Amino acid sequence: MLRWLFAVTVLAGQGFERDLQPIFRTHCYGCHAAAVKMGSLDVETHEGLMRGGNQGPIIVPGKAGESRLYLTLTGALEPFMPMGGKRLGLSELEIVKRWIEAGARPDPGGLVWRGRVMAAGWGGEIRVLDETGRVVRKISAHVGTVRGVWLSADGRLAGASGGGVARVYEVATGIEVKASEIEFEAGLVALSPDGRRRAVLAEDGSVRIYEHE
Ligand code: HEC
Repeated sequence: MLRWLFAVTVLAGQGFERDLQPIFRTHCYGCHAAAVKMGSLDVETHEGLMRGGNQGPIIVPGKAGESRLYLTLTGALEPFMPMGGKRLGLSELEIVKRWIEAGARPDPGGLVWRGRVMAAGWGGEIRVLDETGRVVRKISAHVGTVRGVWLSADGRLAGASGGGVARVYEVATGIEVKASEIEFEAGLVALSPDGRRRAVLAEDGSVRIYEHE
């Protein structure tokens, strides 16, 4: 039997890669991708989308009606997007809206548990958590979207992989260090070192911890 130790609300949202990327790929990449950034906007990755363009952020998490991303798609705000193209279908607009309303979250990028710390991949970050699931440090991973995370046995070093790159950081300082022969874990469930508890990375970025009774 597993007992749920820490209760966290999990909102059912839209997945960035599953639901949003196909829409942007079809309608936007021609002008807003890593290679062509019109208006300095790159909608290819979650980080790019959250960074926004020349006029700053285009998303207010939780509020589609205040997000320039959504308003330029409905035509409520100039310039209309996709520029020179056809308005997105109603179901596509609804997907963008629901994703923003649910918090404009990235897709979870892995979870590991070593010693008394955990590391979770979240968008472009490595989030380091203590044994209660509380975030104690956020490290910019500089690997694009984090696909897998790693922790040294003593919990002092944390790493992330993504976009064909892997980087390792000192947890205490967030400074990058060189490390080799590391196995990155991409699963969203991690077992505590003593094997008695299990942590699950939820889609709101929090970590739920369960204990065997
Ligand atoms: C044909 C090229 C083209 C396409 C396709 C296009 N855009 Fe744009 N977009 C632009 C240009 C150019 C700008 C900069 C406009 C400006 O600065 O006045 C821009 C600016 C923006 C902005 C910033 C507006 C602001 O107020 O800061 C958003 C948001 C945006 N685009 C979203 C999108 C989305 C989402 C798509 C796909 C559904 C898309 N665009 C498709 C050319 C395009």
